[in-house]
Amino acid sequence: MASRILPSAFRRAPRALRQLQQQQWHCRPLSTTPVRRSDSLQVHRDSPENNPSIPFKFTPQNEQLIQEILSRYPSQYKKAAVMPILDLGQRQHGFTSISVMNEVARLLEMPPMRVYEVATFYTMYNRVPVGRFHVQVCTTTPCMLRDSDAVMKAVEDHLGIHHGQTTKDGLFTFTEVECLGACANAPMVQINDDFYEDLTYESTVDLLKALQFAAEKTGAKPGEVGSAGHVGTGHITGDLPVSSEQGRAYEAAGLKVPTPGPLSGRKSCEPATGLTSLTSEPWGNETLRKDGQL
Ligand code: FES
Repeated sequence: MASRILPSAFRRAPRALRQLQQQQWHCRPLSTTPVRRSDSLQVHRDSPENNPSIPFKFTPQNEQLIQEILSRYPSQYKKAAVMPILDLGQRQHGFTSISVMNEVARLLEMPPMRVYEVATFYTMYNRVPVGRFHVQVCTTTPCMLRDSDAVMKAVEDHLGIHHGQTTKDGLFTFTEVECLGACANAPMVQINDDFYEDLTYESTVDLLKALQFAAEKTGAKPGEVGSAGHVGTGHITGDLPVSSEQGRAYEAAGLKVPTPGPLSGRKSCEPATGLTSLTSEPWGNETLRKDGQL
């Protein structure tokens, strides 16, 4: 009897083991992807300032621009113009609202969902209202290594807001962003369309103070569309008096909004501590031809 039972027990053992493993597998807790903070970028919730019942139409001037943009593409591919036209809508309206997206979809004869997909993919489309100055601080590795923490702290200390918030007066929105492509002049910040580079804690505070002062001087109310037709987009001096000697810099009562670019004295991205190579006398045609020979 025992000789019959034992072989059968051996035969069944692997199957029993497999069943046990399967049961354990089914009992394992399910792991889920943690909710990301950026999920808010992909979700639209109707709000008083952003819902489909708010009408949006492009201005006649922008309609002309749209015709110019559309002329760059074959007529059967006009949906290729979705990005520049969304950008135009954001510049006119101040942010890429659901009404802007719907109007772009209507103009380009696209399903609205296709336009939403584009607008939610690119973080440059602001899907909620932003302040008059949209301060975007880069904290990717090159900027982080050159102390973007100090820039972040300067913005937080001076404006009293954290990443993702807007000041109560509606002047500044503060956003932390990934690389903006100016790593050679890290750390840097983008304010509306302008880059300010080679920043320190002090120069960041000075820049913010100058912007506050300039905004007071022009008397434009927060959220008001400037003469450049932009709220939260466009060059920061778009509706400020501009001194011709100083390019786009603005100066009043000793406070100056600096011309965009490096604030360290560098002109571009040349070495911060002077040349480290090619330091000898230039050697080229002008030297070789001193004797008149080729
Ligand atoms: S890492 Fe900041 S601009 Fe590239």
